[in-house]
Amino acid sequence: KHVAVLMGGWSVEREVSLNSGAACARALESVGYRVTRVDVQRDIAEVLAKLKPDVAFNALHGRFGEDGTIQGVLEILRIPYSHSGVLASALAIRKDRAKTVVKAAGVPVAHGVNVSRFAAARTHVLPPPYVLKPIDEGSSVGVVIVKKGREHPPQEIARPDWPCGEMLLAETFIAGRELTCAVMGDRSLGVTEIQAATGEFYDYDAKYAKGGSIHICPAQILPKIYQQIEECALTAHQAIGCRGVSRSDFRYHDESDTLVWLEVNTQPGMTETSLVPELAAHAGLDFGELVKWMVEDASL
Ligand code: DAL
Ligand code: MG
Repeated sequence: KHVAVLMGGWSVEREVSLNSGAACARALESVGYRVTRVDVQRDIAEVLAKLKPDVAFNALHGRFGEDGTIQGVLEILRIPYSHSGVLASALAIRKDRAKTVVKAAGVPVAHGVNVSRFAAARTHVLPPPYVLKPIDEGSSVGVVIVKKGREHPPQEIARPDWPCGEMLLAETFIAGRELTCAVMGDRSLGVTEIQAATGEFYDYDAKYAKGGSIHICPAQILPKIYQQIEECALTAHQAIGCRGVSRSDFRYHDESDTLVWLEVNTQPGMTETSLVPELAAHAGLDFGELVKWMVEDASL
């Protein structure tokens, strides 16, 4: 099979995607596929129409790669592709709308409101502590935690060079652990706890700097909570209508026994040291087997 690995693009997660794409392309070659690496530009439809791959392996993250738009191009070109389709991608990228759907399916979420970045810079839109996050970006780019006791909202969100769009989601901050759960088809691959080595949460640096975070895989939490997270991740995957592999992020506070689902990533990070490959290994699948499964699962 000839597989085109789509990577790069022009979202704020371009660099992350180049790393995911390079790792997946290498692994796909090692398990016997013919691979073409495609750095996605705005002429992607023409490039793919000429290339005519059997499958597109989507290693993009963020805008145009994770939001249903590239998926729409692939549908029109009739090229089977990995991961979620148009509707699930478009729904999942919008954190507020995804929460509405997943909450209706019975999964606990944190209280949140949509707010423009300028309104959020003028007054506290929720009682601190709360989180401000771009409504449709990934990798924690632009995420700000507004701590308890803080008098004014953060001003960086009103800057002219703000890279992340006008709409933010303000959400009650849940103290406690950061947990994530990978789903592959109809099964959970397990739960990892992430501890940021420095800083106060799993931000961009913690995610991608060497030694920026510690992964505890599998998470050392009560079996009851572990199982609840797996059930919530599967429910979210199904309620949004995801396909292939997805990864749901959570917070859990031990003292108050509060679990909230934060979001589902329909294009989770796929470097060799990313969370999904690590959880797949824990579940008995090496990186090559994981990407092979994703190619064979690809469809229209
Ligand atoms: N948005 C990044 C790539 C992730 O969820 O892994
Ligand atoms: Mg995300």
